[in-house]
Amino acid sequence: MDHFQYRDNQLYAEDVPVEQIARQHGTPAYIYSRAAFEAQFRAYDEALANRPHLVCYAVKANSNLAVLDLLARLGAGFDIVSGGELERVLRAGGDPAKVVFSGVGKQPDEMRRALAVGVRCFNVESEAELFQLNAVAAEEGAVATVSLRVNPDVDARTHPYISTGLKDNKFGIDINSAERLYRQAAELEHLDVAGVDCHIGSQLTEVAPFLDALDRVLALVDRLQAEGIAIRHLDLGGGLGVRYQDETPPEPATYIGAILERLGQRPLELILEPGRSIAANSGILVTRVLSLKCSEHRNFAIIDGAMNDLIRPALYSAWQDIVPVVPREDGNRRCYDLVGPICETGDFLGKDRELDLAAGDLLAVRSAGAYGFVMSSNYNSRNRPPELLVDGSQVHVVRRRESFEDQVALETCLPGEA
Ligand code: LLP
Repeated sequence: MDHFQYRDNQLYAEDVPVEQIARQHGTPAYIYSRAAFEAQFRAYDEALANRPHLVCYAVKANSNLAVLDLLARLGAGFDIVSGGELERVLRAGGDPAKVVFSGVGKQPDEMRRALAVGVRCFNVESEAELFQLNAVAAEEGAVATVSLRVNPDVDARTHPYISTGLKDNKFGIDINSAERLYRQAAELEHLDVAGVDCHIGSQLTEVAPFLDALDRVLALVDRLQAEGIAIRHLDLGGGLGVRYQDETPPEPATYIGAILERLGQRPLELILEPGRSIAANSGILVTRVLSLKCSEHRNFAIIDGAMNDLIRPALYSAWQDIVPVVPREDGNRRCYDLVGPICETGDFLGKDRELDLAAGDLLAVRSAGAYGFVMSSNYNSRNRPPELLVDGSQVHVVRRRESFEDQVALETCLPGEA
């Protein structure tokens, strides 16, 4: 179900008119739906109900404390890639025993903190990291539970910047060297080898690449088992895509059904790390049209949202739907480029969009709940937008709009001449 729907010819976020939210809180603004986040998380959790599992939401997709909080209340685990994400999970009331720690550049202090709070598992990405983690755990008198992130060399058939499972990518350990490393890991005193991990990319719209990766990972699990290295869990990462335009990604239940069928009777716990498929369509970015600038060549709608607020269109040429908050039919439909106030040609949120617009109109950029606010910046010294979470008829400000003082709080001018 879509939690951003038109009623009486205007867009609602759950039970609140988006126009009312924009009037009260200004634009640009991110608006999230609690019910949407919950429904997407449950879709995963319920499809896995008959099997030992842990759904570890990928914090990087949307790390607002309120989002982590609502997911923690549903029993979610979390996939983190930094000390900062770990602190966010803890601050939001997440259970460290349900946290998996991924990432290619974990630092000793991050490892120490993760060991101290008792994270569930470290997804180790290299030989160097394996030995470093063992050394840090030894210093702390601890044993780190690990899985190795293997790179199964499958083509996720997604955007090259978000494809991670090819042998040319920086991620993971070549699946063919993994056995040797598992043997070494099993010998290290401060490591407990528990699982095998892989993540092949993001915004996958087909099941086939996931199954190709799974087959290769299962073959590895069997070889390890034969050598007496018992694998207790399988972490298949995240990556399930969403519909931005006309993609037809499988539903979580379909994707999970296919995985479970391949797993058969193997007594492995399944861990997944979905981010986008939980968050993307749980949020919108609302922006106002500042002015229209039409010429013979091109029509521009200059809007108050920009690439600093949502960088996906500029960075990946990503297409996200842009819809009017209160549609008008003045018979002035035109094809617009929706551009922000930033001094870059790449500063657009959408191009060639058929819309009927006037200055002052509100637009909603759909599918902005994942990799939206988290990738925002202060470029051009713009204050970052607020994040608002709608819950039924209530609107919670879960991050207030930044002020200029927030922006300069960490900076100082030079000391005066002596
Ligand atoms: N696990 C690992 C190890 C990951 O690297 C990622 C995403 C995920 C899980 C979650 O994947 P998801 O379910 O969200 O596809 N900024 C890009 C996406 C980068 C994804 C990076 N890794 C975008 O805006 O499209």
